[in-house]
Order: sequence, then C-alpha cells, then structure tokens
Amino acid sequence: MATQKLAVPPLSSVLNLFDFEAVARRVLTPNAWAYYSSGADDELTLRENHSAFHRIWFRPRVLRNVRDVRLETVFLGSPTKLPIYITATALGKLGHPQGEVALTRAAGTRGIVQMMPTLASCSLDEMMDAAVPGQSQWFQLYVNPNRELTRKIVQHAEARGCKGLFITVDAPALGHREKDMRTKFEIDAPKVQGSVSERTQGAARAISGFIDPTLDWDDIRWFRSITKMPIALKGIQTAEDALLAHQHGIDAIVLSNHGGRQLDTSRSAIEILVEVMSALEHEGIVGKMEVYVDGGFKRGSDIVKALALGATGVGIGRPFLYAMSGYGQEGVERALDLLKDEMEMVMRMLGARSLKELTRSMVITKDLTTHAGVSIRDNLSEQIYEPLAYTSVDPAKLPASKL
Ligand SMILES: Cc1cc2nc3c(=O)[nH]c(=O)nc-3n(C[C@H](O)[C@H](O)[C@H](O)COP(=O)(O)O)c2cc1C
Repeated sequence: MATQKLAVPPLSSVLNLFDFEAVARRVLTPNAWAYYSSGADDELTLRENHSAFHRIWFRPRVLRNVRDVRLETVFLGSPTKLPIYITATALGKLGHPQGEVALTRAAGTRGIVQMMPTLASCSLDEMMDAAVPGQSQWFQLYVNPNRELTRKIVQHAEARGCKGLFITVDAPALGHREKDMRTKFEIDAPKVQGSVSERTQGAARAISGFIDPTLDWDDIRWFRSITKMPIALKGIQTAEDALLAHQHGIDAIVLSNHGGRQLDTSRSAIEILVEVMSALEHEGIVGKMEVYVDGGFKRGSDIVKALALGATGVGIGRPFLYAMSGYGQEGVERALDLLKDEMEMVMRMLGARSLKELTRSMVITKDLTTHAGVSIRDNLSEQIYEPLAYTSVDPAKLPASKL
C-alpha cells in the first residue's frame, strides 16, 4: 500500500505527466515503484518508447481559423471525448487504496474509455459499479489454459456490459523485469485466476503464472463463438501480424510492446504504427480494423503524432498510475485535463480543428526507423561498468628508467 502520509506538492503545481512520475516515485513503497516503473532486461524498449517521439517532427499549416478545436471521436462504437483511453495495468491498489476504481471514476468524469485488467486489485464488478451511466469500459484478458474459466470470465464481462474484449497476445512468457524481481510480493493477489505460486520474485511473477503459452491464431474462432463483444488483440508488433489479425476477423489491434515490459529491444510502439499503417494502406484495408497504440505517451504532442499517422486512439498506462498514486481520482483527472490542453494547443498550432484534419503530411518520420547513431542510455550497464582503475603515481617513487 502506498504511504499516503508523505506530503505531496499541490495538484495545481503539477504541470505535466513527468511531474506526476516524480511525485509517485516519492510516495510509492519501493516494491510498488519497482512493479509500476520496471521494464524488461536493460529497459531499452521502455526508454525507446518515449524517445522515439523525439525523432518525429511536425510540418504545421497556418491560417486555418483554429478557434474551435474538437477532440471527440468514436472507439469501437462508443463515443469518447478524447482520443485516448486508460489502458489495463494490474494491481492498482499498490498505488492507491481505491485501486482501479479511482481510474474508472476519472474516466467517467472525463468521458473516456477505461480498459479494465484481468489482474486488477478491484473486481470487475467493483469497476463496473463505479462507472457513470453511459460510460464505456473494455475488458483486458489474459488467457487461462482452463478455457472453461476463461469462458466464464469473458461472458461475465459481456453480461456486465463491457464494450470490447482485448486479448493480450504479447505475454506467452513473462519479461524479466529485474527491478521488480528483486522484491517480494507481499499483498493479496487478484482472486480471479487461482493462487500465487511464487512470491520471492516480484509482483509480476507472483500473479501471472497462469497465462497460457499455447495461445494461437486458431483460438480466435473459439473466442468468436463465446462472445459477441468486439475482439481486439493487444500486443501486435509487426505488419504481418496486423494483416493476420484482419484475416481472422479481428475488430481492433493494439500496437504495443507492453510498455517495454516484455521483449527488450523490440521496437517502439510508434515505429510499429508507421509500418502497420503502410501495410494496411497497401492492402486497401485502412479503416476496416481499428488501430490503437500504447507505450511511452507522455505529451499531447506524442498523441497528436500517433493520430496524424493514422491511429484510431492512444492507450496510456503508467502516467495514470503515477497520477493516481500521488493524488487518487483527482490526480488522474488533472492528468487528463493537462493532456487535453496540450493536445488542443498542438492541434491549433498544427492547423487541425478536428482529428480528421490531422494528416500524415503533418509529420516527418524519416528518422524514426533510424536506430544507428541514436543513443538510448543503457543505464544499467553504465552504472555497473567500472573502467580500468587508474591510480596516480608519485613520480618520486618511480624507478629512473620510467621517468
Ligand atoms: C504496472 C503495469 C501493469 C500492467 N499490467 C498489464 C496487464 O495486466 N495486462 C496487459 O495487457 N498489459 C499490462 N500492462 C501494459 C499496459 O497495458 C500498456 O501496454 C503499457 O503500460 C503502455 O505503456 P505506458 O505505461 O508507457 O503508457 C501493464 C503495464 C504496467 C506499467
């Protein structure tokens, strides 16, 4: 549980999502910070997710009467006030006593969609009961080898009114999140999927042991037979798999590397988006399947870049967890308000009054796929590596031959 006693700066002094991260780092317990902030292995993908945005530059248009800028759109048939959603992140109560319900309520007041995690600290019913009338929620699924249990969970989510099933496909094995693995898992596990088998190697290992590595494209037909919810695959990372998803009748894909928590040195989510959109265009199927993207989004400009590149919407994980950890529901609402202000400002200066007016020609991506010469700091090895020790020598003590 977070130590909420630590004084936090007034919410009004928080001006961007990085500020929330700085506060969260102080208020979270070391274990909670390790679980939320960790990435896989050397955390290169974790850092690349955000730094990739620095390689995309804008081409703003002018003289377009941008007094009114509109950010509304539709996600899987549900209207949303902003082109972003709160993505699924497990164990909300590590950050705040209300857990994911604080995220539900903030999504409700701001009119956006929440994706509820299988491994939430709160039950699905608690999250759904906390929603305001008309609020849309999606359900993220980790598939259990016990398909009867999986069927029950999915059909319960549908019966409760979930508007989409997001099957996570990027975790057939769990990434080595070493910061997390150094901690012990000491709280109660989410109840839905059976017991905790291993508590000594961090939160992720404790709660995720049940995930089925045999999951296959052939299973999609079975999912179709058990639910009428739109089905999305979360964790697509190549054009090939995006096209396969379309061929299997999938309604939406989430281009994601799981926030850098799975395969280290897999590409940034935004780089995958460029590849996937060009493949969909080549096949003439843009718009036939919704394309979401998550990972490393921290600024309104990051979101606008993804939308200009053709994304239907953007998922955001850690920044909302951090906002919740410091300030609960109000923090998440402020994070959303800050992003909205940033997006509106960027759109005005780009010359786009609505999401439809954001076009591919407004961004330059030629450097995005260039990894040579781009340095992502390798923090871990830089800290551990010790250069050849050099001790200065008193010349008076050197033999005459060395002088
Ligand atoms: C603490 C934490 C827990 C997560 N839990 C899940 C999960 O249970 N299921 C899932 O599909 N993705 C999970 N993710 C991945 C997120 O859904 C999302 O892909 C990622 O956080 C996006 O990157 P961002 O945190 O940089 O916004 C988790 C991410 C974090 C940081």
